[in-house]
Amino acid sequence: MPLVNTKKMFEDAYKGKYAVGAFNVDILTQCQAALEAAEECNSPIILSFSAGSREFFHPGNIKEILEIAAKDIHIPWAIHLDHGASFEICKSCIDEGFTSVMIDASSYDFEDNVRITKSVVDYAHKHGVTVEGELGPCSKRDDPRFKKFTDPEMVKEFVERTGVDSLAVSMGTKHGLAKFEEGEEPELQFDLIAEVEKMLPGFPLVLHGSSSIPDEYLHIFNDNGGELKGTKGVPEELLKRVARTAVCKINIGTDFRVAFVGGLRMSLNEKKDKFEPRNFLVPARQLSKQLVKEKLLNVFQSANKIAKM
Ligand code: G3H
Ligand code: ZN
Repeated sequence: MPLVNTKKMFEDAYKGKYAVGAFNVDILTQCQAALEAAEECNSPIILSFSAGSREFFHPGNIKEILEIAAKDIHIPWAIHLDHGASFEICKSCIDEGFTSVMIDASSYDFEDNVRITKSVVDYAHKHGVTVEGELGPCSKRDDPRFKKFTDPEMVKEFVERTGVDSLAVSMGTKHGLAKFEEGEEPELQFDLIAEVEKMLPGFPLVLHGSSSIPDEYLHIFNDNGGELKGTKGVPEELLKRVARTAVCKINIGTDFRVAFVGGLRMSLNEKKDKFEPRNFLVPARQLSKQLVKEKLLNVFQSANKIAKM
């Protein structure tokens, strides 16, 4: 049951030219789907909780619950706080056993972002927890206060002054179902990544907003009464390419949720005379597990890259 922080995960990913998948979870069934998929692919994996998911799941005991659920899991896995908005939420997660936290102070100005991020790093490192920072509007590309992409010049200074273990930068994506405008050609800022690689060799970057909204899962969702419209995800070809760069962590929230709820919708439609929850949760778990396996094998290229522990 190697519950780990992300340090060695990212070192291995950087050297091995693949990315670690981080999947946003709300409930135990999703955690089981992601962990089983990773185990079957022999890939590392990160379970990401937003502050809201943590509150819903079981604040205070997530580590204990997941360690029991993962007793037969042999691949390295991490429990991560996604988009932590303050020192306080990061501290709570560190105190209760999360192995990785993200402090997202990207909506502050540079100096405040440095100050807040460094305070989290100082506390986290005393407890063996790794920290992801955010520089640039990677989740808020439409926010008029920000330039479109992170300035690579600022990355070096930010990393050196804060001591963060990884950094989310704005390289062309955003959260949710529609990542690009109608008629906009999807592209990622590979030059930005290359500049960071030159300035900070070995330093891991993180890509947020990385869902592709694959047709197969979208159809299952919509053919069973769903109404997801205007979707435009990140093409898998771009993600495959980015996984071979300094980007060592790729975040997937939307795709994992669409697959899970698609499985629920499908089984609710098909089994109208059933009422045991597992009749609906089993297909949801299977479909979301299938999606994770496809990502790990075909997109992130993390399958069979680690030695079993
Ligand atoms: O922090 C979470 C991820 O960045 C989610 O991105 O909306 O593309 O799944 P997504
Ligand atoms: Zn994000």
